[in-house]
Parts: sequence; structure tokens; C-alpha cells
Amino acid sequence: MEKIDFSKIAIEYEKLATVQKSASEVLLKLLKIRNSEDVLDLGCGTGHLTREIRSLTNGKVVGVDPSEGMIREAIEKSKGLNIIYEVKSAENMDYEESFDVILCNSAFQWFKEPEKAIKNCYRALRRYGRIGIQAPAKKTYCPNFIEAIELVKRDERTKDTFAHFKEPWFFLETAEEYKSLFEKCGFKVVFSKIKEITTKHTPDEVFRIFSSGAIAGYLNQDYYDVKLTEEYISAFKEMVKKAFKKQAKKGFVELKFNRVFLIAVKQT
Ligand SMILES: C[S@@+](CC[C@H](N)C(=O)[O-])C[C@H]1O[C@@H](n2cnc3c(N)ncnc32)[C@H](O)[C@@H]1O
Repeated sequence: MEKIDFSKIAIEYEKLATVQKSASEVLLKLLKIRNSEDVLDLGCGTGHLTREIRSLTNGKVVGVDPSEGMIREAIEKSKGLNIIYEVKSAENMDYEESFDVILCNSAFQWFKEPEKAIKNCYRALRRYGRIGIQAPAKKTYCPNFIEAIELVKRDERTKDTFAHFKEPWFFLETAEEYKSLFEKCGFKVVFSKIKEITTKHTPDEVFRIFSSGAIAGYLNQDYYDVKLTEEYISAFKEMVKKAFKKQAKKGFVELKFNRVFLIAVKQT
């Protein structure tokens, strides 16, 4: 059975990733990239944001992501744009004073060792360099998804397998906690807020949004210690789709995401 992870969803990713894209616009505004700055896009995925960064600066632009499939797509989509892409995780980066700006959109929640990753970012930045992150936050990061997963937890067809699911994500509950984490790693935090963002979509669109990120956790063999079957995967998807249909009022779902926006500066 084929593994459901970011490499698997890479080809479809840009069509599905509408919520990640709109949140990234807010992050870009907060970061105010200047036209000679060297920028690292951390957890760049297929590079849609990396290409936008390319249009903002004449400096060096680098995209890093541990998913080979994502980087393959990013390289394919960025031909002739003078962007460097590398298959690497945030925890394995070894850049030293190489960038003025690091941007990390909708990827921080996936970091296995957030503190190690933040320390690597600190080392990768030059003095007064800044990092901006946007990521889903709080255990209730998306109440719509969580409500749908409650059905999976209870249904006879899925409950036994789902009991073996180990959530891969890293969430903190308050903006203050995110701030403290970055301060612990040496940064001065100049902005930290959790915003609840609501957008309206058809149930099918919500399922596509679910398929652009959350599915790489919930249906990824790596996060279960029992073997996933085709039956489990299709019952899971069917239930989640049904839940989004039930959430719709007059054909539209109010999709809520809690998102942290944080900007921090390297002082020394
Ligand atoms: C939802 S996608 C976001 C991609 C892109 N930044 C965007 O805004 O569309 C999350 C990305 O984080 C990457 N990721 C997961 N773990 C990571 C890690 N430890 N370090 C860096 N990136 C990671 C995934 O491979 C995936 O491409």
C-alpha cells in the first residue's frame, strides 16, 4: 500500500493548500522582506511561497524541506528562477549566519524537535536577522477537523486502529508559550499572537483542505504501530467527508483555524 505523506500529496498540494496560502500573505506582510535580503523558506513544500519571496528580493533565496517529493515539485515549478532547494529538516540544518530572514509557513507544527530547530534557525541568521512563523496552534487547532475525528474514534470500523494513532504535531496553547520558547533559544520576540481565522467553504473544499496537510498525519503509517489497511483508510475518509457535510449550513462550512503568528529577532 502506498504511504500517505507529504511526498505522496506533493503533486496535488498547491491546488489544495488554500488556507496555508492565505495565512502566508499575513506572514509576508509582517516580515516586510527588503529587496537585497537573503531569505530561507523553511518547510517550503512545493515552493509556492519561495517563488513569491523570489519576486521580493534580489538576494539569495533557499527553500528547505525534508520531503523529497515536495522538493522535486518545487524544483520543477521553479525552473530558471535562481532558487536553491535542499532536502533537509529544520532539525538537521547547519547554516551559519547565512540569512537575513527565515520564513516558516504552516510547517512548524510538524517539527519533531522544535527547540533544536529554533536553535538552528538562530545560528542560520545574521545579527538582527528575523524569523517569522505561522502555524496552526492549540490542541483545538481546527475544531472542524477535531469534530470529524471524534466520529473516527467512535465508529466500529475505525476505532480499534485509530486507538494506535500517535499525533505527530507540536502545538502550544498560548502566544505567550510560543514567545517563551523562542526567547529560551536567544531570540527577542517582537510579535506573537494566536488568531482564530474563519473561512467559508463547501464540504468538498474542506475535505481538500484536510487533504493538503492533516491527512499526512492522520493517515500516515509512520504514526501508527499497527498496519493500516485500505479498508481503514477508505472508511476514515468517508467518515471525515460525511462530518464536513454535516457541518455545512446552507451548503457552506465555517472552517475555523487557530493560527500563531510570531516574529522574532536575533540580537547578537
Ligand atoms: C503544510 S506544508 C507547508 C508548505 C509551505 N510552507 C506552504 O506554506 O504551503 C508543511 C511542510 O512542512 C514540511 N516539514 C515537515 N517536517 C519538517 C521539519 N522537521 N523541518 C522542516 N520542514 C518540515 C513538510 O514536508 C511539508 O512540506
